[in-house]
Amino acid sequence: MAIEIIGTGRAVPPRRVSNDELTAKIDTSDEWIRSHTGIGNRHIADEGTATSDLALEAAKNALAMAAGGDTHVSEAAKNIDLIIVGTSTADFVGTPSTACIVQYALGAENAAAFDVTAACTGFVYGLEVAAGMLSLDRGRKRALVIGAELLSKVTNWNDRSTCVLFGDGAGAAVLEKTDAPCKGPGRRGLVHTLLGADGSGGESLLFRRGGTRNPFKAGETIGTGICVEMNGQEVYNFAVRAVTDTIKALMQAEGLNADDLAWIIPHQANARIVQAAAKRLKIPIGKFFMNIEEYANTSAASIPIALDEMNRSGKLNKGDMILTVGFGGGLTYGGNIIIW
Ligand code: ACO
Repeated sequence: MAIEIIGTGRAVPPRRVSNDELTAKIDTSDEWIRSHTGIGNRHIADEGTATSDLALEAAKNALAMAAGGDTHVSEAAKNIDLIIVGTSTADFVGTPSTACIVQYALGAENAAAFDVTAACTGFVYGLEVAAGMLSLDRGRKRALVIGAELLSKVTNWNDRSTCVLFGDGAGAAVLEKTDAPCKGPGRRGLVHTLLGADGSGGESLLFRRGGTRNPFKAGETIGTGICVEMNGQEVYNFAVRAVTDTIKALMQAEGLNADDLAWIIPHQANARIVQAAAKRLKIPIGKFFMNIEEYANTSAASIPIALDEMNRSGKLNKGDMILTVGFGGGLTYGGNIIIW
């Protein structure tokens, strides 16, 4: 029995905001943003869009691929047993989950649905949770795993140290339990996952207000809405360590060297983080897929957006071994090895 990805999809808002556009509003420059992060653009949703809207579009695209065309999406949705949305920017605080909103909109009436909160590692976590649940002998066959974020609505647009970094988007994958082997020759699908967390670093990336620790009070006037606060240097150091150690541990666990991997798909937070990890690991930078220039950091959406972009542009061939690696708020980290 293998857990294979049989369809991918993505959705990003049409509005593309360049670095130059930001320089009109805050004290920054295209040169600073590019040289410190590798970011050139980001896609920003309009006021009326919520995370589930992007998640739904990405999910439909993934289902259409899995089912062989747009006309089969509603039928394919009925065959989904599980919907997991990795997000830190849910439509609502608490409930309903973004996954339940997607479940209803898709008409996926046979699916259990819930969100996973692991920040930028949400998709990596979600794949493992879905694979575990599909592996149990409970009659579940297909899952939809989505990473979706609308970070523009939780960004302080006056804080140049964070607002230049983030973008909106969603990516999705349809997983199916198949008869292919998951061990030995010809093995397929999700073959290994490493997940970890270091809660001691929780304060380096957080939404301080709005939860039960620091709720908004009736009548209170606030300067900004709920917004992300980040200690960039701390997250940077953690990220380089997490990406390096996760890749190393996954390769060791599977007895791999870099030549065995067709691609490494890292969370797209900062090109410098990836370059630093590549250097430490002595893995050629060309092995790492990067699209941060176009989308900036879309948190849990970044890996599935990259996966779909690679899939649709013919970069992934049957039998290719790929390694995903993510890190983010929590702090969390993790990676998956997938044989395409
Ligand atoms: N434009 C121009 N100057 C800026 C900007 C900006 N947008 N932002 C900061 N600066 C200035 C600072 O004020 C500082 O100026 P000073 O020296 O006069 O004080 C200078 O640039 C250097 O600032 P640093 O913070 O030291 O810059 P650094 O090289 O560390 O880069 C960055 C900052 C890009 C945020 C980096 O630390 C980083 O990428 N950290 C990791 C962030 C990350 O990955 N976050 C996502 C986690 S995933 C998730 O869960 C969402």
